[in-house]
Amino acid sequence: MKPSSRFAILAIAMLPVAAVADPQTPPIAQACAGCHGQSGAGMGAIPDIAGYDRDAFIQVWEEFRAGARFATIMTRIAPGYTDEEVAALADYFASLR
Ligand code: HEC
Repeated sequence: MKPSSRFAILAIAMLPVAAVADPQTPPIAQACAGCHGQSGAGMGAIPDIAGYDRDAFIQVWEEFRAGARFATIMTRIAPGYTDEEVAALADYFASLR
């Protein structure tokens, strides 16, 4: 990815989160929708996470938390969630599709 693309991702990420929330989305996953789209469908350069395998989700989250997986944004977000919250997010996104 070119450095300019990274800047574009950051610029997108700083856009205000859409005010209209999908009532089917659990509150814990609302924070993800501003970037990953409603139901985790992805938006532009932000990956589609709908139907993400549960175990892979938890593994990837641990790597983000540890700074072991390259990320522009998720390494900053991941440390803010407890193991229980990550499990709830993993269940929700795995259940989509
Ligand atoms: C500010 C924007 C933003 C928010 C908010 C956000 N993400 Fe992300 N997410 C990204 C970006 C960008 C990537 C690609 C990795 C990177 O550069 O951080 C990503 C990557 C991921 C991945 C890895 C996808 C893959 O391809 O393997 C998962 C899983 C994920 N995010 C889950 C979440 C969840 C769950 C939430 C809500 C708790 C969330 N993200 C909130 C921007 C965001």
